[in-house]
Amino acid sequence: MSTQVLVTGANGFIGSHLVERLHERGEAVRAMVRGSSKLAHLEGCAAPRVHAALDDVAAMTTAMAGVEVVYHVAGLTAAFSRAEFERANATGTANVFAAARAAGVRRVVYVSSLMAAGPSHPEVARREHHAHRVGFTRYGDSKLGGEAIAWEQAQSGAIEAVIVRPPLVYGPRDTDVLQMIKSAGAGIIAQPGLGRPAWLSAIHALDLVEGIILAGERGVPLPILADVGEHVLAGHGAAHDHVSEQPDEPAGRGIYYFSDGGQHTVTTFGKVAAAALGRRALALRFPGPAVITVAAINTWLGKLRGKAPALSLDKARGSLAPGWWCDDAKAVRTLGYRPQFPLEQGLEHTVRWLREQRWL
Ligand SMILES: NC(=O)c1ccc[n+]([C@@H]2O[C@H](COP(=O)([O-])OP(=O)(O)OC[C@H]3O[C@@H](n4cnc5c(N)ncnc54)[C@H](OP(=O)(O)O)[C@@H]3O)[C@@H](O)[C@H]2O)c1
Repeated sequence: MSTQVLVTGANGFIGSHLVERLHERGEAVRAMVRGSSKLAHLEGCAAPRVHAALDDVAAMTTAMAGVEVVYHVAGLTAAFSRAEFERANATGTANVFAAARAAGVRRVVYVSSLMAAGPSHPEVARREHHAHRVGFTRYGDSKLGGEAIAWEQAQSGAIEAVIVRPPLVYGPRDTDVLQMIKSAGAGIIAQPGLGRPAWLSAIHALDLVEGIILAGERGVPLPILADVGEHVLAGHGAAHDHVSEQPDEPAGRGIYYFSDGGQHTVTTFGKVAAAALGRRALALRFPGPAVITVAAINTWLGKLRGKAPALSLDKARGSLAPGWWCDDAKAVRTLGYRPQFPLEQGLEHTVRWLREQRWL
């Protein structure tokens, strides 16, 4: 018999791909959306919908009745204030766990972010046992707040928690990376900063959802500290250096990075996007103060329109970090994760979809 699962944020970019994939695999999946959610991405998907918002524990508890695994994907990726991020990403996650425990859910898979861990060392990809760095972006701090909730809940022994930290996610239905693709198509790649371009990791949404499902089915949950003695989420991680991974990974246990396995920069990403469009693009370097100024103008315009912009001040600060690069070796080795979309194929697939939809 298939497992009853529930996906929060089911109508969003990543959530809708996850619901579709689970449904295709024959899982009994409930798509959690709120009354105000736009449902275009779920059109044609027969998975039943349940209505609840992240601030409504009672509605979520009802929605989760009989559910074994919750994939908590809902989250806020753009906001004007720290408080807005915290309310959705940290308090919202606390509410998801409260509802899950009340409903008797066995496991919650929390879709966090590489940004929760903070930037990578310029020359070393982030691994699960590396210590996090706070204070780089408000978004990242709020996602780390959600991880702290997952950690606390796991310490109770009453529920399993697994954390997935995606890097940059692109693919059909995304609207953020779309701006980079459009700009590359117009011949311009905006590379932030004047130093050596920072490494970054990326993943196609269809690979990410396979990873999220593997984490739900086979992932080792966050441990109880008394059993392992050290863990990054208890403040006991190694600095992000060349400290080798311990074979059973107590310091990073329960956390998984997924990527396409490549090592990109904004410039190489843009060049591959331009090639997928049959064009060539020129990379222009923008000094930090110029990036911050453009983001400040965007934020001001966003406030007038009432919608946080894709390139906000928070994102601009993040774009000037020494790197957003992660290593998915643990997922490959222990979960059998095999990404199907190297960047070239992933962007060709995305561009094909964008053209079919007339988004380009
Ligand atoms: N995209 C990336 O590159 C990336 C990278 C790393 C991690 N992530 C994480 O992946 C998750 C999904 O991101 P996405 O790119 O798919 O974003 P998205 O398209 O904006 O989807 C966000 C989803 O969360 C829901 N949501 C937000 N606030 C909610 C609330 N208060 N109550 C109920 N639902 C709420 C949204 O519902 P409505 O439509 O009703 O607002 C939507 O379904 C997020 O947690 C994000 O932090 C994304």
